[in-house]
Amino acid sequence: MNLKQMAGIEAAKYVKDQMIVGLGTGSTAKYMVDEIGRRVKEENLSIVGVTTSKETERQAKALGIPLKSIDEVPYVDLTIDGADEISADFQGIKGGGAALLFEKIVATYSKKNIWIVDESKLVDKLGKFPLPVEVVPYGSQQLMRLFEEKDFAPSLRQTADGQTLVTDGGHYIIDLHLEEITDPHALGAYLDDLVGVVEHGLFLNIVSTVIVGGTDGPRTIQAVQ
Ligand code: 5RP
Repeated sequence: MNLKQMAGIEAAKYVKDQMIVGLGTGSTAKYMVDEIGRRVKEENLSIVGVTTSKETERQAKALGIPLKSIDEVPYVDLTIDGADEISADFQGIKGGGAALLFEKIVATYSKKNIWIVDESKLVDKLGKFPLPVEVVPYGSQQLMRLFEEKDFAPSLRQTADGQTLVTDGGHYIIDLHLEEITDPHALGAYLDDLVGVVEHGLFLNIVSTVIVGGTDGPRTIQAVQ
């Protein structure tokens, strides 16, 4: 079993009957969704899933997991999702898989969030992983210019075949190559204020539980509350 799979399967144990479960996106979340699908089929687990991307929706539907949209549920009990970087104080960067907007919406309306990662995602400080910023296409070149001026080393995300990537929400993604983010809250507030920015990949104060797949097995770490 690989480390991502280990974390995904461990996290699926937190899912209980009758829960409304937010289903994250990415290669780690995929293992968790597979395991929930197995439990639905083999253990008669009864849940409703709320997906965070078209990709996860396709997977969950194929597995027979009953689904509702975020607007059809009063709240989400538990969301399990991957992450690109997690700092020692449980702040994160997400959006490597371009699903950050729907992921943040589902996380925001969740009573509890768990992130699942392999050991490589744990860092002292955020920023080595490029920070995704989801933007409206109209005016996106102006934002590119602004980020250049700020020395944020922006790049407009492309698909594998060289087209500008369009998110599930119909937006573009500008990745900021910052190397180190000294004050994630200040940067998040700055980005929140920019016209044309829909959302950014700084997920701050969202999780208190992280499940890490490691060579010695899955490890669950909790933030000190
Ligand atoms: C998608 C995400 C993913 O959760 C994140 O990129 C981690 O992906 P993976 O598990 O494939 O490493 O934020 O937008």
